[in-house]
Amino acid sequence: MSNKTLVIRADSDNFEEELSKAASIIKEGGTVAFPTETVYGLGANALDPDAVKKIFAAKGRPADNPLIVHVSSKDQCGDLAEDINQTAFRLMDEFWPGPLTLILKAKKIVPEITTGGLDTVGLRMPANDIALELIRMSGTAVAAPSANTSGRPSPTSAEHVIQDLDGKIDAIIDGGIVEIGLESTVVDVTGDIPVVLRPGQVSAEDIKECVGHVEIGYTDRTLEESETARSPGMKYTHYSPETKVILIEGRPENVKSTMTELITNCHKEGKMVGLLATEETSGSINADEMFSLGKRNEPAQAAHSIFMGLRHLDSKEIDLILVDGTLKTEGIGAAVFNRLRKAADEIKKV
Ligand code: TXA
Ligand code: MG
Repeated sequence: MSNKTLVIRADSDNFEEELSKAASIIKEGGTVAFPTETVYGLGANALDPDAVKKIFAAKGRPADNPLIVHVSSKDQCGDLAEDINQTAFRLMDEFWPGPLTLILKAKKIVPEITTGGLDTVGLRMPANDIALELIRMSGTAVAAPSANTSGRPSPTSAEHVIQDLDGKIDAIIDGGIVEIGLESTVVDVTGDIPVVLRPGQVSAEDIKECVGHVEIGYTDRTLEESETARSPGMKYTHYSPETKVILIEGRPENVKSTMTELITNCHKEGKMVGLLATEETSGSINADEMFSLGKRNEPAQAAHSIFMGLRHLDSKEIDLILVDGTLKTEGIGAAVFNRLRKAADEIKKV
């Protein structure tokens, strides 16, 4: 484990040089956090077990939770996975580079530590020039989970990565705020019908439109010990701030009145409340701290704001975070609700 983390700025004059330094760190078995279009990833050589071990150590990640392996071209997939079917190829052609991870049968070359001991591997080609260039220059496939401490909200800026991992990783490439704000859609394509294991910007409808079929294989809650998880990540708590989070779902007028009542009660007890809410909801509500989710009918704005908002509110001296569940559920809205429900300690349906 390193103790000084090198910060590389994408807007610096000698960025090309700095980027090749970052690629050398990966080649030599170190760890580099980098921007992707979804969230920041913490990268290491996916084929080097000792390097991958450093990712697990820095994040405090459970050993059975596999890492997504990032590639810079579709051609790289043949080295890492086998029995790639037409469904997988069609999805790659349609959505890569982009926020879609494909679960495929792993080749033996992918170490067990990377796959969490599974016989499958998740592959993704990110739509971010810095990420693609870094992978290309590293000359290998790059394993990269979200660059946060396990359990915390995913990082959408380099500052978030520094908050969690400074001193625990070798370098961070600061490429500003990410474009999408929540992680890729994960789809199991080992069978004929693709199964969505984690929702993201590429929606189940998009997948169905592309290949004719789709199944939903996730729930919006953390699974119990006794339940079988199709994806190990489903068993672990995610995205949680330290402050208690209550998500309130229902008709807008009910959500507003429930929020007002909860805030009044908290204030009576001398407690402070933070609000993560749409513009429509927040207007009439008197919370101590506020972070906007944008417009109710534009879930892409919420996708961009939820992790940043949860981190922002968690950094304030407040006792409770109330989250507005009146967003539209279509498109990326399904992924936003998935993350919010997982982040919540309590969900109120009103
Ligand atoms: O957008 C993203 O996907 C980001 C960026 C950095 O690319 N990465 C990311 O990685 O979110 P991570 O490790 O935070 O989430 C990966 C998820 C986990 O829930 C994991 O269980 C699942 O993908 N996963 C990875 N490999 C799998 C496999 N072989 N089978 C089933 N699930 C898998
Ligand atoms: Mg993650």
